Amino acid sequence: MRKRVAAVLVAARYLLVGAVTGLVSLFLLPVMLVLLAVVRHTALRWLYEWAHRERVRVAEFTGAPIPEPAPPERLWDARSDLAWLLVHGLTGSVTGLLGVALPLSALNAVVVPLYWWVVPEDEPVTSPYPVTSWTGAAFMPLVALGYALLSLWVTPGLARLQSRWSRALLSPPPGARLAMRVAELTQSRAAALEAHGAELRRIERDLHDGTQNKLVAVAMHLGIVERALRRDPASALPLVLKAQDATSDALAGLRGVVRSIYPPVLSERGLDGAVAGLIANCGVPCSLSVDDLPRAPAAVESAAYFVVAEALTNVAKHSGATRCEVRLSGPAELVLEVWDDGHGGADEEDGTGLVGIRRRVTAFDGTMALDSPAGGPTTLRVTLPRGS
Ligand SMILES: Nc1ncnc2c1ncn2[C@@H]1O[C@H](COP(=O)(O)OP(=O)(O)O)[C@@H](O)[C@H]1O
Ligand SMILES: [Mg+2]
Repeated sequence: MRKRVAAVLVAARYLLVGAVTGLVSLFLLPVMLVLLAVVRHTALRWLYEWAHRERVRVAEFTGAPIPEPAPPERLWDARSDLAWLLVHGLTGSVTGLLGVALPLSALNAVVVPLYWWVVPEDEPVTSPYPVTSWTGAAFMPLVALGYALLSLWVTPGLARLQSRWSRALLSPPPGARLAMRVAELTQSRAAALEAHGAELRRIERDLHDGTQNKLVAVAMHLGIVERALRRDPASALPLVLKAQDATSDALAGLRGVVRSIYPPVLSERGLDGAVAGLIANCGVPCSLSVDDLPRAPAAVESAAYFVVAEALTNVAKHSGATRCEVRLSGPAELVLEVWDDGHGGADEEDGTGLVGIRRRVTAFDGTMALDSPAGGPTTLRVTLPRGS
């Protein structure tokens, strides 16, 4: 029951705002027609902005976002926004007032017994019948109950109806949605190529600056050994040991590079096991929750692994947190969340790590959302389609 009342309040608020925007839309309609004839480009932009507000409002009310179409270039592109303006202008205020009037009438009926006798006799309270006696007033609580029960059903129903037709009119048509999707995929393909290129450059750099240098050192040591063997074989032994050390060093470096391409721990222990390993090495106390996590393609798991690794590095380095939590889930798509109770204020523009995460994730057609208000807490949420 409490839930229903809350739903009525939310719906009434939605309808009330809808009544106002409906009224504005009604006034805007003739203005828009004139503007479209005179300064078309500006008018289209305004219409787009106004429709955008409604998209956001409907998305907030229903909890499901409406895909945002590209800003219209021609009048034809704005046809459904114009249709919405017409429909919302004509019906928004009526539905809105109806939805709000019912709960208000219920409220009024409750208090009528308190004030009916002070209003002038020739203009009595008439909701829904003229109240001119105490007997009439005595029935008012019943009337209030009736109104309240009615609004329990009608107000949320009207709000749903309004949000539904707004959604129908404001959603981009299937063709446009397909075009948007193609644009998105083109972008993620470019990001994939870019990420691939960046990864190749990084591996090349690691091999060049690390492994190659170490192998050069090995060769150098072996050269010294050779000379020593010719001159004084007894003095060569410590030099051989040095060369051996240098070889182990080069091998370790090489292993590091291989691990940075695809961490072997992933194939051995799966994503949850690998992440558990990261958590064990995190400087901040951290817990892991895993929920229904089937194996994903190696590329996806390794992207997820690197995301968690970078996020945990950030938590340890920047957050000042006392606690953090990693959540992995999703049979449909891989969802990973890294939460910390630190001071927040993480900003993609301030470094390279978060940008790197976004680039990696975009390459997989995934999403990244960073929520880090000043004062904390910080949540990084990444989704990665499984791709198979
Ligand atoms: N978990 C976090 N809590 C607070 N601040 C953070 C967090 N993660 C990142 N930041 C801030 O956002 C900035 C950008 O992070 P990032 O792109 O990873 O760069 P960096 O290379 O400095 O780690 C960091 O410099 C830091 O100030
Ligand atoms: Mg970082």
